[in-house]
Amino acid sequence: MPFLKNCWYLAAWGEEIPAGGMMARQIAGEHVLFIRDDDGNVAAVSETCPHRFAPLGMGSCSHGVVTCPYHGIRFDMAGKCVENPHGPISSALKLKSFSTAERHSAIWLWLGDENPDENMIPNYDFIDRTAPDARVKGYLHSRADYRLMVDNIMDLTHADYLHATSLGGGINTRAKAQAERDNDKIKITWTAMNDQLAPLHAQILGSDLGDFYNQVIWEAPGNMVQRILLSRPGQLETAGMDSLTCHVMTPETEASTHYFFCHTSDAVSAHPEIAPGVRAGLVAAFADEDAPMLAAQTRRIAGADFWSLKPALLPSDKGAVLARRELDALLAKEGAMA
Ligand code: FES
Ligand SMILES: [Fe+2]
Repeated sequence: MPFLKNCWYLAAWGEEIPAGGMMARQIAGEHVLFIRDDDGNVAAVSETCPHRFAPLGMGSCSHGVVTCPYHGIRFDMAGKCVENPHGPISSALKLKSFSTAERHSAIWLWLGDENPDENMIPNYDFIDRTAPDARVKGYLHSRADYRLMVDNIMDLTHADYLHATSLGGGINTRAKAQAERDNDKIKITWTAMNDQLAPLHAQILGSDLGDFYNQVIWEAPGNMVQRILLSRPGQLETAGMDSLTCHVMTPETEASTHYFFCHTSDAVSAHPEIAPGVRAGLVAAFADEDAPMLAAQTRRIAGADFWSLKPALLPSDKGAVLARRELDALLAKEGAMA
C-alpha cells in the first residue's frame, strides 16, 4: 500500500463540516464520514453501511445521528447503531470509528491502529496567528498521485517552465538550492540575490531585480510549509516581504489527491481586501498549469512503482528524493509491523 496509516492526515478545513452536518471524503483509500454535532464536536466513522454497503454520505444527518438512505438504519457519532427499523441491533451493526483532532482550522484524521499522538500534528500555527479574512485558503481535488504532488512542491524549478509568465522565468533554476534532512523533516532552500525576479514577484515588488529566498519544509506523508521572502536588492533582512503557505497533499486514492493550501503574508494581512485576488491567482496557477501535468504524469506512470521506472535524477531533485526516501522508509516500517 502506498499510504501511511499511523499519521495525521489533513482531511478537511473545519468550515467544510457544518454544525449538525456531515461530509464524506475518501482519505488514503478509506471511505470516511465526518460528522459535527450541534456543539461543534467532530467525529469520523466509516462511511460504508455494514448492511448492504450503501454510502452513508448519501443519507441524512441530524443532531449527530446519521441515517442510512437505503433501509434507514441509524448510527451515532461513535459508529454505534442507535436504531434498526427491521429488527434487533446486532453486534454487526456498527461503524468503525477513527480519531480526529481539530487544529489550525483543519480537521486531522488518524487511520492507524497505533495510539494517535496529537504532538505529531504538523505545526501550522501561522494560520491561527493570521486574521481569518487574511487567510488565503483553499481545497482542490487532483487526479494525481500524492507523491508526484509532493515532488512538484519540493522541486520548484518547474515554475520556470510550467509557470513561466507568473512564478517562473528562470530565477528558480538559477537560485542556489540546498536540500537537507532536519530530523524527520526534509528542508530545501533556494536563494537568489540581485536577480531577475519572476514576473509576478517583480510586479508585486515594483522592481525587476530583487533578492529571493524560498524555503519548503516537508514532513510525512505529504505536508509542506513554504516561506518566501522577497525584497529589492540588499534589503531581504530589513524590508523583505514575508509569506508562509502550507501545501498539504492528502491522498484520496493511489491516483487522486486532496490538495489543501493556506497562504498568509504581511501584504495580505495589511490589505485583506486583496485576498480574493491572491487566491484566484494561486488557484489558477495550480488548476491550469500544475494539475493537468500532474494528472498526465500519473496516467503515464499508470500505477507502476516509481523507482522501478528508473527515473533520471537531477541535482534539483535532491529535496524531492530525500522526501520520497523518508516516506518509503516509514511505509516499509509500517509494512513490517502489519
Ligand atoms: S444499506 Fe444501510 S440500511 Fe441497508
Ligand atoms: Fe507549480
